[in-house]
Amino acid sequence: MKYSEYSAVIIGSGAAGLYAALKISQQINLPEGLLIVSKSNLGESNSRYAQGGIVAVMHQNPNDKVSLHVKDTLNAGAGLSDEKVVEYISQASDEVLNDLIKLGVNFDKDKNSNLMFTLEAAHSVRRILHSGGDATGKGITDALSKAVLSDNNITVLENAMAVEILISAEKECKGVIIYNELTQEHEVVYTSALILATGGVGQVYKYTTNPEGATGDGIALAYEAGAKIRDMEFIQFHPTALALSPNSKNRFLISEAVRGEGAKLVNTDGEEFMSRYSDKRELAPRDVVTRAIYNEMKKEHSSNVFLNATVINHNKLMSRFPTISNKCLANGVDISKDPIPVAPAAHYTMGGIMADVSGKTSIKGLYAIGEVASTGLHGANRLASNSLLECVVCAYELADYLSFANLEVPQKIDAGIKKMIDVYSHSISGKSYDIDSLKHQLKDVMWNNVGIIRNEESLLKAKDLISELKNEFKRMRKCLSIKEYEYRNMLTVASLIIDSAIQRKESRGAHARSDFKTTSEISVHSVLEKEVEKDLIKC
Ligand code: FAD
Ligand code: SIN
Repeated sequence: MKYSEYSAVIIGSGAAGLYAALKISQQINLPEGLLIVSKSNLGESNSRYAQGGIVAVMHQNPNDKVSLHVKDTLNAGAGLSDEKVVEYISQASDEVLNDLIKLGVNFDKDKNSNLMFTLEAAHSVRRILHSGGDATGKGITDALSKAVLSDNNITVLENAMAVEILISAEKECKGVIIYNELTQEHEVVYTSALILATGGVGQVYKYTTNPEGATGDGIALAYEAGAKIRDMEFIQFHPTALALSPNSKNRFLISEAVRGEGAKLVNTDGEEFMSRYSDKRELAPRDVVTRAIYNEMKKEHSSNVFLNATVINHNKLMSRFPTISNKCLANGVDISKDPIPVAPAAHYTMGGIMADVSGKTSIKGLYAIGEVASTGLHGANRLASNSLLECVVCAYELADYLSFANLEVPQKIDAGIKKMIDVYSHSISGKSYDIDSLKHQLKDVMWNNVGIIRNEESLLKAKDLISELKNEFKRMRKCLSIKEYEYRNMLTVASLIIDSAIQRKESRGAHARSDFKTTSEISVHSVLEKEVEKDLIKC
């Protein structure tokens, strides 16, 4: 086994991980340096594919103010957002967005060089910055990756996966075990600040807008380490993903900003149906639009509805949405002439590792930022474009917090940790698994039973089916490949979603149960926490 030590280790290279690396490096003396570990290439992440933009409550936007953004976020969050957190993040957006611009992120400007603000569902004013029209995520991750690669304090390790968090007998985080796909070896990395920026869980569903790597690793690892996990029943299904055929599973997003600019939803009869569901029509909160589409599809026995963007001025459509129009055209849909076939797909994880705005979790030395974290910003339903904002504000706050912390690498490693490491130094043999087929089975279970609408019967059925899959897969610690580790983590995450969904006996935000009505009563977060087996961490 290879051993190394770093003052801070970041797992994940999306917006949260990359920006945290830069801010920590800028602000903190790092005697042992900083390591950023990424399962694929640097920057490959959900962040990279973000289209619509990033919320920015900026002083140069006369129509906006923090109180308006807070109100919109709380309304979308359906009674479960933490108002103090919402205010804090909204307040910080001006400073952090200006910092991103200084780091080289180019947000789109009009011909007078003023920043352009767009509109998305459930926002009361235009407040969303975008880059390259509809390529905001690429704009952000390209600029941040470039800055990370030219920073001498930062070591980058690609194609390597964090597979277990090292926890001492005192329940403190002391480091992480990494599986390096290129060398096929496990490595031990000690650190006093382990930062999870591993993103969401979209891949546990059959249809998702998320890229392949979104398998919920950070949430599974933190749960196994004994951290508190919160609100996992709240999975956001984006209403409009390109649905060319029922077989196309990884679904390309058709940004909400297209509706923000005027596109209309129509059913297979050609009827504009949104007014039957909400007076905000196409710009109702995401969960409302998703359920409306789901109803229409069910009623019409169809696998999609249509988004009509032809009503948008041609030049505007082409210049605002070049990525979407090219992707659709490559698949035979000219968005300036043809209605776009769309259907909902799993998109965003509102729950995650319980953390405050500076990333502190329930375990000392373990931090969580970005989509992997549950800070209380999103509540039961995320407001569009608030997640990139949360990524960068929490990364910024984390660097600030760590600048006052002691980042000396732990010298005393206890016998419990040595025992954990031992598991990874022994070779394992046994059956080989058809992981692709197992992943598909899991995704089907989740889509069919824990999807847009659930109920007690479907959730209990899913629980049994996931237990069967767990019994079949014998590698719940050491595995033989990234794919196997991902599947191991997906099983854990699927159980967390199901257990939280069973616990929440009401419909709220994105958690819609056919056996319970939506209530306006005050509600509480669902929290799951594993009793970490004492024999693992004790001598
Ligand atoms: P990610 O960007 O997902 O990054 C996670 C990183 O962790 C990746 O590099 C991954 O490879 C790595 N990783 C994961 N597990 C491991 C492991 N075990 N070991 C090592 N590395 C690991 N939000 C907005 O605010 N505005 C938008 O316009 C918008 N559009 C979106 C469009 C699409 C298609 C999608 C999928 C999401 C969109 N979102 C948008 C949501 C937003 O992009 C994400 O919530 C946000 O980018 C998450 O950033 P992150 O840094 O937390 O995680
Ligand atoms: C979109 O562009 O519709 C996605 C925005 C988001 O997920 O916040």
